Amino acid sequence: MTTTEANEVTATEPNAEGYKQFSLGGFTFRRDEFFAHITWPTGSHVLSVDNFLRALQRDVAWDFFYGTVNFDGVFGTVNHYGTVDMFAGRYNDAYRKAELDHVENFETPLIRETFKAMLDDWTNDGFDPFASPAETGKPFGEKQGSNTAAVTRRRVVASRMVGVPGDEPLRTDETHPINRMFADVAQDEPVIEAEPGFEGEVCAFNLFAYLSRSDVTWNPSVVSVCEASLYCPTTEEYILPVIHGNDRVEWFVQLSDTIHWEVEDRDTGAARAKVVMKAGDVAAMPGDIRHRGFSPKRSMLLVWENASPELPELIASGRAPTAPIDF
Ligand SMILES: [Fe+2]
Repeated sequence: MTTTEANEVTATEPNAEGYKQFSLGGFTFRRDEFFAHITWPTGSHVLSVDNFLRALQRDVAWDFFYGTVNFDGVFGTVNHYGTVDMFAGRYNDAYRKAELDHVENFETPLIRETFKAMLDDWTNDGFDPFASPAETGKPFGEKQGSNTAAVTRRRVVASRMVGVPGDEPLRTDETHPINRMFADVAQDEPVIEAEPGFEGEVCAFNLFAYLSRSDVTWNPSVVSVCEASLYCPTTEEYILPVIHGNDRVEWFVQLSDTIHWEVEDRDTGAARAKVVMKAGDVAAMPGDIRHRGFSPKRSMLLVWENASPELPELIASGRAPTAPIDF
């Protein structure tokens, strides 16, 4: 084993397939041509490497996001905003009952750097974990090159709003060509008629045109911010590569096309609901569920997040409800 002191990532020399093996606490990670193999003191698990890399990409890019990022029904992370739990079987009723589950807590920089190093080493040339499977190469086989530019892609995070001078720029043909599925989306921009003296203080942009140029899927970007209120729209195609466990309510506004959602109990994985959202539908995902989406056509989804740091504790302690509305 070799340990890099600067970021404390613990990795081996390449294995027979050309990939490094990584370890963090009691967990080890190994990949071969088709699978990611994870071990922990009480068990082991195998995932298809394409799903593993797509989930890992999002965990890294979102810096562990809100709440729980389940890679599947067994392995994942829980964000404590400064530290991160890495778990196996913790939110799986059968693993819990068999006492095979395992959780370890890490300082965020350590797990972040380990995940970044694993993502970069395990992603081959030609495979982009953020892209729709219809728009990228295959992740399988022995190690062949890398795709560092794709896996370190900067996530859009506006400080006020996309298009405001000095903030995240609008997308153009040069930087973001219109996606094949959104060729019919109008590209006109709003006409701004500001009162004299206010010309520099009024901004607007065409969100549909902006989203039609997204080159990634299942990646909520922050396009506007009003204190803790974040508009995080995203374009979706195929399957959400993680099962997201909420630690707060999330509002969904389906802007185009259709997404099928599987909604489960966050802690046990028991099925709770199937939700089919069509263009114009609005849903509030409760703060105690986990969910995975299926998008048959590339669709536009507005995720509305409340980033208030006190929310997880308020909900966990019962002082705030898990759903925003009682019927
Ligand atoms: Fe979510």
